[in-house]
Order: sequence, then C-alpha cells, then structure tokens
Amino acid sequence: MRRKDFLRLSALFGGGLFSGATLGQTPTADLDELANNTGIDGSMFNYADAPIKKVRVAVVGLGNRGTTLIEMLNWLVRNEHCEIVAICDVQKRYLDRASERIAKFQSKSPLVVDGSSDKNAWQQMCNPELADLLLIATPWRWHAPMAKYAMEQGLHTATEVPMAYEAQDSLDLIKTAEQTKRHCIMIENCCYNGEELFVLNMVKEGVFGDLTHAECAYIHDLRELMLHTDYYHERWRLNHHLERDGNFYTTHGLGPVCMYMDILRGDNLSHLVSMSSNEAALSKALRESDDPVMNAVSEKVKCGDVNTTLIKTEKGRSIMLQFDVHTGRPYNRLNKLCGTGAVHYGYPSRLFIDDPESGGWHSWQDETGYKEHLEKYAHPMWVKLREQISDNEQGHGGMDFVMMYRLIRALNHGVPLDLNVYDGALWSIVGALTDKSVALGNQRVNIPDITNGMWKNEAEHPVFREL
Ligand SMILES: NC(=O)c1ccc[n+]([C@@H]2O[C@H](COP(=O)([O-])OP(=O)(O)OC[C@H]3O[C@@H](n4cnc5c(N)ncnc54)[C@H](O)[C@@H]3O)[C@@H](O)[C@H]2O)c1
Repeated sequence: MRRKDFLRLSALFGGGLFSGATLGQTPTADLDELANNTGIDGSMFNYADAPIKKVRVAVVGLGNRGTTLIEMLNWLVRNEHCEIVAICDVQKRYLDRASERIAKFQSKSPLVVDGSSDKNAWQQMCNPELADLLLIATPWRWHAPMAKYAMEQGLHTATEVPMAYEAQDSLDLIKTAEQTKRHCIMIENCCYNGEELFVLNMVKEGVFGDLTHAECAYIHDLRELMLHTDYYHERWRLNHHLERDGNFYTTHGLGPVCMYMDILRGDNLSHLVSMSSNEAALSKALRESDDPVMNAVSEKVKCGDVNTTLIKTEKGRSIMLQFDVHTGRPYNRLNKLCGTGAVHYGYPSRLFIDDPESGGWHSWQDETGYKEHLEKYAHPMWVKLREQISDNEQGHGGMDFVMMYRLIRALNHGVPLDLNVYDGALWSIVGALTDKSVALGNQRVNIPDITNGMWKNEAEHPVFREL
C-alpha cells in the first residue's frame, strides 16, 4: 500500500484500525462474577419518575438514524408533548441539516452544539436545566459513556441499538440507572412493528398456547453501505467487522422474541452457544472495490458471514438467533414463533393454527384466515395510532414513530417505560457473549442474571399499558 493510501486509511477509520485499542478485543471477563459483584439491586423494574409535561429532548448523533429520530418527534413536538432543546454532532453539515428540518415543525431553535473540534462537546447538553432526556444515535462505542454521563448529570437516556458494546458497560449502565434513578433504555424499534405487536397480542390472548421455540435474525446486506466512503461516520460499521467475530446486532430479532417469551417478566435467558461460518462475502466485496484502501483491508475481516446462536431460556424454551450482513440474502428478521396452539413465520407472513377446524393440518392459514386474525388480534396501540403511523411511514413503516410516541408519552404521564435498563442490557450482553462462545470454539456460555432475581416476577408486558 502506498503511504498516501495508508494515511487515508488511518484517517477514514478514525485512527482506530491498527491500534491495539480496538483490534482483537473480545469480552472475556467472567460475567457471572461481574454481575454478582456489581451490587445490582433490580430497583429499576417498574420505576416511574415524576411526570414531565413537555419533555425537553437533546439529540446526539445526527447521521442516518438521528435524522429519522428527529422526524419521528415532529408530531410529538407539534402536539406539545416534547421540544427539541439541543442537538450535537461532530459534523457541521449534519448540524445544519438537522436545524433545517427542526425549523419546519418547531418555532424555537434548539441549542446547536458543534462537536467538530471536541468529541466531548455533547456533554454541554447534559444539563438538567436544559434537557430531560438525551437521545443517543452515535456509533456503538459512544452509547455507554454518553448514557452514563447523562444519567450522572440528572438526565434520562435512550440509546440506539445496542445499548452498550462491552458486556461490562451494560452492567455499569444498570448500576448507574439504579443509583441515579434515571431511566436508561435502548430504543428497539422492531418491538413496535405492527406484525411483532400482532404476534405478541396473540400470545397474550392464548392463541399460541405454550411457547416452545422461536427463530429471529438480522439479515440485511450492508456491504455497499459499509464500503461507502461517506455513509457511516469514519466507516465505523466496517471497523467492527475487522475487530470481532460474533453477532453484533442482536436486538432487532431478539427484542420482540423476548417480549413474546416474557423474558425478564417470568422467564430469563439462561445460556447460549454461538457459531460463525467462514468469512468470504465481505472480503470479496472489499477485494473487488475500486478503492485501494478497501482492497488493503480485505484480508482483515474477522467476522464470519453468518453467525448462528442458540439460546436456552430458564423455562426450557429455545431461540435461534442469526446475524448476516455480509451476504446478498434479502432482508429478513425471520420472526418465527412456535407454540402448542399456533406457529407464525415472517418474511412472508404466515400463520398456522393447530386446529383441524381452522385451516387443517400441515397448512398455513390462507390469505383470508391470516387477515381475519390480523384484524381480530391487532395490537390496541397500533389500532389507536393508525393515522399517525400512516403519516410517519418513513420511519420503517411506522414502528419508529410508535416507539418514540410510547417513550415520550410514558415520560409525560410519569409511568414506567415499556422497556427498562435490564431489557436493553440483556439483549446487548447476548451480543458480547456470542463473541465469547465463538472465541472458545463454540462452547456454552452462561448468561448472567442481571436483575437480582427480579426476572422471576411474572408481569404483563408494559406495551399493553394504555398511553
Ligand atoms: N433502530 C434502527 O432501525 C437503526 C437504524 C440505523 C442505525 N441504528 C443505530 O443508530 C446508531 C447510528 O447509526 P447511523 O447509521 O446513524 O450512523 P451514522 O454514522 O450515519 O451516524 C452517527 C453520527 O454520530 C456522529 N458522531 C460520532 N461521534 C460523535 C460524538 N462524539 N459526538 C457527537 N456526534 C458524534 C457522527 O458524526 C454521525 O453523524 C447506531 O447505533 C446504529 O446501530 C439503528
């Protein structure tokens, strides 16, 4: 590689590519021991804070996702449920873009914090005199330090997925939330998708009987975006694929399944086994790129093309969780759920009812049967917000709006949030533990109890609370 290309390569990857600080780090600490010694007390279960009439929102990270999140606040701002009081990014052009968009629906301009010469400038927004909530949509490694600092200063926090990168950071966030009594949640939008909520409602109404098994995934060909010069800031996403081997993006698939299975509300994830395939597709794309910088890293890809993880729950159920952003498979989260009474498959959506009177053996419901169930069991939240959902379809078909609505309205009402710090931490920790299992030759890895035993309390999921 020419010196010129080497320098460009280092700049593109934020200097982290060849440094020991990022290469070869796998979370190998003994998590059971860590979880036992952190003094986690479980006190953020059902935690409700004082109502906030109009939530003052600060947003950090205004790239692809931050832009969508701001759009999702439009209706809530116009209806006086919240106000965007401050925004921060390290790229000036994104601050300008966000300011322009906000001006279309909010008369008062937010404080603009330019982080282009100070990566910690976002800390200026973490002031309870200014804001109630910090929304975090930055690259993964920033989520935990930002959320922790914001809570320590007195703000509630909501991070994009995953909540934390290292398992220890998830435990640290739980402890900080418990000590500061600030909400810290991971905003997992797929938990709010119409189909997932419909399946959840059928589970609640007993259509599935006893649940036994689920299959879920994040299958999304990201090669083009990961190789793009300008899409992800300093190509942060590709960088992770050069550092780790496992499942880095567990939550879109696992989140909804944990809701179906009452995970942390009567059941818990017990242990996992994870296996990665060999790597071929991402390095091929890098090799075939016109950019010598991309050619140069083609041999450094560490993450296998397809990672498959099996998880066992305390009640004996099994979950198959898959991660593939290297191959050309069309987008899929699988969304498969099996019970004694019914089976659901996503992509395309299919429903089997285990009753000869209702569709017969060995066959899915026909279109009419599926539609009848969809109408009968549509989640009340999805029905209530139908109009706003159709106005906000650019947020992944409406689920991003529903997620933001539920967060802001729960803060307005001063009731517990739908998802708590333990949900976000657990789904994120699973990602770190897949690395560990892969590194140990696919051995069983225990998933620690991060709730001080609170998971044993059976409870209806808060997404059924009317807001
Ligand atoms: N839930 C979803 O459907 C969904 C979809 C896309 C991305 N995401 C998540 O959103 C997050 C961001 O992803 P993205 O695709 O928007 O990436 P991106 O690179 O487009 O955006 C990240 C932004 O953070 C900014 N940033 C980086 N360091 C910063 C710092 N110290 N201070 C202030 N700003 C900083 C960057 O300049 C950039 O604008 C990730 O966690 C990703 O997993 C979630």
